Amino acid sequence: MTELVPVPQDLAARAHVDLPTYRRRYAESLRSADDFWAAEAAFLDWIRPFREVSDTNFDPADLRIRWFADGTLNASVNCIDRHLPAKADQPALLWEGDRPGESRTVTWAELADQVNRLANVLRGLGVAKGDVVTIYMPVIPEAIVAMMACVRIGAVHSVVFSGFSAEALADRIRDAGARVVITADEGLRGGRVVPLKRNADHAAAAAGGVAHLIVAARTGAAVPMTPGRDIRWGPALTAADPWCPPVEVGAEDPLFVLYTSGSTGRPKGLVHTTGGYLVQVGTSWRTIFDWHEGNVFWSTADIGWVTAHSYKIYGPLLNGATSVLFEGVPTFPDSSRWWSIIEKHRVAIFYTAPTAIRSLMREGEAPVRRHDLSSLRVLGSVGEPINPDAWHWLHRIVGGGRCPIVDTYWQTETGSVLLVPIPGPVANKPGAAGKPYFGIRPVVMDTAGRPVAGAGRGSLCFAGSWPAQARTILHDHDRFLRTYFSPFPGHFFTGDGVERDGLGYYRITGRIDDVLNVSGHRLGTVELESAIASHPAVAEAAVVGVPHPVKGQAIFAFVTLKADQPENEALKAAIVALVRERIGPIATPEALLWAPALPKNRAGKILRRMLARIAAGDYHDLGDTTTLADPEAVDEIIRRHRASQ
Ligand code: PRX
Repeated sequence: MTELVPVPQDLAARAHVDLPTYRRRYAESLRSADDFWAAEAAFLDWIRPFREVSDTNFDPADLRIRWFADGTLNASVNCIDRHLPAKADQPALLWEGDRPGESRTVTWAELADQVNRLANVLRGLGVAKGDVVTIYMPVIPEAIVAMMACVRIGAVHSVVFSGFSAEALADRIRDAGARVVITADEGLRGGRVVPLKRNADHAAAAAGGVAHLIVAARTGAAVPMTPGRDIRWGPALTAADPWCPPVEVGAEDPLFVLYTSGSTGRPKGLVHTTGGYLVQVGTSWRTIFDWHEGNVFWSTADIGWVTAHSYKIYGPLLNGATSVLFEGVPTFPDSSRWWSIIEKHRVAIFYTAPTAIRSLMREGEAPVRRHDLSSLRVLGSVGEPINPDAWHWLHRIVGGGRCPIVDTYWQTETGSVLLVPIPGPVANKPGAAGKPYFGIRPVVMDTAGRPVAGAGRGSLCFAGSWPAQARTILHDHDRFLRTYFSPFPGHFFTGDGVERDGLGYYRITGRIDDVLNVSGHRLGTVELESAIASHPAVAEAAVVGVPHPVKGQAIFAFVTLKADQPENEALKAAIVALVRERIGPIATPEALLWAPALPKNRAGKILRRMLARIAAGDYHDLGDTTTLADPEAVDEIIRRHRASQ
């Protein structure tokens, strides 16, 4: 049965888009895509207007993704300078620190000042157009200043999640060839100190090629500084000129690189370019959150993920919106922290992730009820499917039953939201990520690679390009072609399974490649397996996801040790510690089971699907075991798993 929750009348009456407009604009956006996007592009201030709107082709033999290619612009001017005449003294960022009571307001004028100064510091260090700068920072205003300073001079930012380890950071610095890294002395999360400068030092040493580290003061801790290499943010900015001329870049020049996990080994640096990304992110942000002047926006995403890039940083900045920036976690010092921030700043639009909602649901309604959340108008969800229980809790308890939930489906690769119930015209269907955004053509493919007509299940693909999509994987265009454009020629393949109902709503059924979604974070099984296998006692490992009530999926590792290695708890702990060191705490395995051997087919491929069933305690329907190279191994794994439960 289809349960639809209509958009409240008063919201629908004021929304940017009503139902007839949605239908008409969606139809137009497909029929005359170039006219549609050319009109959307008027949202930006261009230096040289574009003449050609698009040049695109999804055929892997001749892949072309070019939007507004002969136009030129500067991203920081669009995000900051153009708001100054009207808003210089208004808040751009409302920052809340990890500890309650620690907060800062950054006005548009202050943001501009800091960005210009840092841009000059970067220029002074020889950073030029096209150079990649790695940013490894906590969620503090300086992180946004850093991103904007890069793009002011046409440099390319590569933000690395501050929860990643020194090793993971080193890989990303090396891959990007960054000469300058911007970090902070320490980060604070949930009362715990994150040694960012120390990690950055290790990473710089491991990666090589880092000429300078710029270090912002967050906690003021005395961190060692390497003379000639390390630069303190405060004094450097004070000494810098407060005006830096913006550098004119082409629409197809890169804006940023962002790493994400894939189904094979190394993380991939997705490259996003300037014009198309800014057009689509800026216009879609205001539409999908139904932002109106004066609405305070808050996305809880960490700056290290695409959610923050597009819809916490670029979207609000491009629109001149005030947004909340929160450094901490929802449960510190207690589980009413988020609700007190919403109350304090009268947040109107709140964008978060199902995993956090599920963990807060466990604390009951009381922490929410103690706060006045009447300022909320629109709620958003992202990162994984939101289960109906969490949906209803968010809707009823947090949103007071009056706020639509925009369940936004998209990816690092897509740059902007592709499926969403736009508030106003599209009613909510709990658990479904709505309908296509303007210009977006979803295609459900069956196993034979044929499009499914009407209702049905299959692989989620998209036909036809959209301006904000990634253009390539840094240094690995072949992998880009192979991963996204070869599986279903003529289409972009997402790696997700999907179900479309009779009303045209899409429900994501989960990844169909070897990628896990743990608390909304993407982790490649191969990446995890190589971290485990790097332990000298380990012969081989296979990692699968198991359903988890809060995380969505948790990491379950099957590990085969080398001959003569003792299977004991100390070794388990050492392997888990190694994974945390190689990747970071988000990659911590929930469970680890010793396996005498891993089930493989005769071609030597590990049968992860079979292992996922076993990890979930489902020992039946294991598929065709006759193709197994070593059927006894499976019986033994089942026996051990049963014993461990
Ligand atoms: O599996 C889908 C899931 O997250 C993946 C993208 O991860 P990432 O690139 O890290 O970006 C996350 C935030 C945009 C997708 O392939 N995913 C993301 N949003 C949803 C989702 N699954 C279901 N519903 C969503 N709203």
